[in-house]
Amino acid sequence: MGMQEKVIVLDFGSHIAQGIARRIRDLGVYSELHPYTISATALRSLQPVAIILSGGPTSALSPDAPSIDPEILNSGLPVLGVGYGLSLMTRILGGELAAAQNEANIKSPLTYVDDCPLWSDITGPVAVSLAPGDKIVSVPEGFAITATTQDKSIVAMADKKRKLYAFSFHPEAEQDEFGSTLLRNFLFSVAKVSASWTMSAFLKHTLAALPIQVGDAQVVCGLSGGIDSTVVAVLLNKAIGKNLHCIFVDTGLLRAGEGEEVVGYLREHFDLNLHHVQAQERFLSRLAGLTDPEEKRKAIGHTFIEVFEEEAKKITGVKYLAQGTLYPDVVESVSVKGSAGVVKSHHNVGGLPEKMALALVEPLRELFKDEVRKLAQELELPDFIVWRHPFPGPGLAIRVLGEVTFERLEILRQADRIVHQELMDSHWYYKIWQGFAVLLPLKTVGVRNDERTYEHVVALRMVDSIDAMTADWSRVPWEILARISNRIIHEVTGVNRVVYDISSKPPSTIEWE
Ligand code: XMP
Repeated sequence: MGMQEKVIVLDFGSHIAQGIARRIRDLGVYSELHPYTISATALRSLQPVAIILSGGPTSALSPDAPSIDPEILNSGLPVLGVGYGLSLMTRILGGELAAAQNEANIKSPLTYVDDCPLWSDITGPVAVSLAPGDKIVSVPEGFAITATTQDKSIVAMADKKRKLYAFSFHPEAEQDEFGSTLLRNFLFSVAKVSASWTMSAFLKHTLAALPIQVGDAQVVCGLSGGIDSTVVAVLLNKAIGKNLHCIFVDTGLLRAGEGEEVVGYLREHFDLNLHHVQAQERFLSRLAGLTDPEEKRKAIGHTFIEVFEEEAKKITGVKYLAQGTLYPDVVESVSVKGSAGVVKSHHNVGGLPEKMALALVEPLRELFKDEVRKLAQELELPDFIVWRHPFPGPGLAIRVLGEVTFERLEILRQADRIVHQELMDSHWYYKIWQGFAVLLPLKTVGVRNDERTYEHVVALRMVDSIDAMTADWSRVPWEILARISNRIIHEVTGVNRVVYDISSKPPSTIEWE
């Protein structure tokens, strides 16, 4: 966004850096991630107002530990080093480090040694989680020790003159008011940034920028029913009106009522060119006989491109494809280590722009998921869109484990509808990140009306997460699980057993395939 003040978080390959960037944005300041390998000159040309060094390996002592261009610390910009950033600053600026003994995350009360602007507004004693890291033996010249733990370990330092600050604890940990206060003090007292990053400012800017970007060209947009593509469609509809053409492909792999709901809402409230393509049979025939998850994903991806392309070709003058790419996707593609690695081939429409020789319009590429939700609220979209759980592009095909057939999809759809209803009725839908049913590729023995049965098993998957990178199984009350299980077993023909998945990510994933 234009002349928006920005804070740059240097990324050493861990998702902690993303956590910090999100926290900074929550405080109303635009932040961007860049690989730690950036030169001081390149960094300066981005015109940041402050730099944060964060999220890296445990120790800066090994010779191949990632380092930054030392000139960055001489740039006159305020710099905050967090965790690894503290060790790195110490090493580069001539302090002394030693290998640490502590391995685990230890909770330790802090002693503030120096009157540091980062500590203002902190009331009462605070115990911080110390991540394993190097021991600071001595701080670099010009620095004062600003906090220690009870055993006198140095955990924070500052050179107020050069505006260099560092501490060893993590301010991005969720629900940590202390962490927010530290970041707020750094941003507003030390770096003197103004809080001007809001979704209403973003919306205004985007609505002005989109018509300039695409001119009079026609734009196609794949509408999936999820929040990202819906927000993209609504934004473009507001910005370029009838030059936007939305294509909704019914793959036959959607949940009961999924899609129709969103499509219905958009039809009713916006004057959209909406192409609703029925392609259920084509998808099912391509999936016949496939059981390998990646092969299923590929078949769906290819079929989607095919169907989408056919439909888009019917529209004349199309030059752009609008996509709901989010900031984490952008970061991952430029990340130092490609941090998360490719676990699953996620991007189902990848390949489409090249194949159709279309340029991309990605109005959400600067945003995190929670910001897209705020933007959706700014656009006055209803709660059922704003708070809709993420739904994978390949849809129910990756929740029907093994071969996907119409009959098996129908069993899952019925079970899934019960899960959805019960989560909605109990308001747990809005408390969890995702909640859904999975149809397992096995049958088990049961008994019904004194008769032996041999039927399908449904697994329930409910997780808490902030960004889907990590997740924990939701502690949904037993009573709700019991009701869901009872209803599925009694109402869905062919299912005689329901199990609850109690695995976290990592090492599991959210989806089963
Ligand atoms: P996993 O299973 O990798 O899922 O922990 C993380 C998040 O991504 C969603 N997901 C997908 N989304 N295409 C998508 O568009 C896919 O192939 C896909 N696989 C998983 C998943 O629902 C969760 O929100």
